[in-house]
Amino acid sequence: MPTSNHSQQPIGIFDSGLGGLTVVKELNLHLPNERIVYFGDTARVPYGGKSAQTIIRYSREIVRALLKYKVKMVVVACNTASSLALEVLKKEFNVPIIGVIEPGAKKAVGVTRNKKIGIIATSSTIKSGKYAKNILKLDKDVRVFSQPCPLFVPLVEEGWFAHKVTYEVAQQYLAQIKKAGIDTLILGCTHYPLLKEVLGHVMGLKVELVDSASEVAVKVQELLINKKLLRSRLGPAGHVFIVSDEPEQFKRLAIRFLGGGVKNVRRHHYV
Ligand code: DGL
Repeated sequence: MPTSNHSQQPIGIFDSGLGGLTVVKELNLHLPNERIVYFGDTARVPYGGKSAQTIIRYSREIVRALLKYKVKMVVVACNTASSLALEVLKKEFNVPIIGVIEPGAKKAVGVTRNKKIGIIATSSTIKSGKYAKNILKLDKDVRVFSQPCPLFVPLVEEGWFAHKVTYEVAQQYLAQIKKAGIDTLILGCTHYPLLKEVLGHVMGLKVELVDSASEVAVKVQELLINKKLLRSRLGPAGHVFIVSDEPEQFKRLAIRFLGGGVKNVRRHHYV
């Protein structure tokens, strides 16, 4: 278990690929002194339709790889891995681990006025029922409406954020939950914050879009304060990015998710 002596060590974050960089972006804003080791499993992305058994195996291997970098905590930035593997990881590893589901659910329950919350996510995240479970734990009177949106991830990776095809796909996917009269929509996937413009347009001004990335950053900050693990040293953070496929594609697309370029990208080889 890391102690305050470990405060200068980096935060480990992982995702199935690039999408978790939306969480890195928020952490950079909230905790600019922290160093980050980011693992993007670019060789095995997407996770969104895979089974729990596979996601647990992948996640376990990644946490092991991150621990070699002596990370003081781990953030599971991927919604699918948070839904399917977080509980197992917490039992197996002796390092603080947080996911994105609980913070996202908490934020949505705080935002809704009519107690009707929509969730959009990958198929595996929706199937796990974890968002609904976390929401109902906080407020049993909330009604939850879920919709898997598997085409959104490839559309974002293609850079089609405001493309008319994306708009049409969103209209199809969101028709039912829009009809249900929700006032809050959880963007339950790392990629969806990049579709805010289209999603906002389709859902209308009365529906608030909840993206868990900023809430996760607040939770990381609280955890580091409570455990006396905040990095005190000022100066450039010097993040490290590790990918399981060749780094070129990651370097090229990272700017979309992070809002800036990435340096120090390394290749991880599974044994
Ligand atoms: N990172 C995944 C998530 O947040 C989306 C991409 C994938 O399917 O791997 O669920």
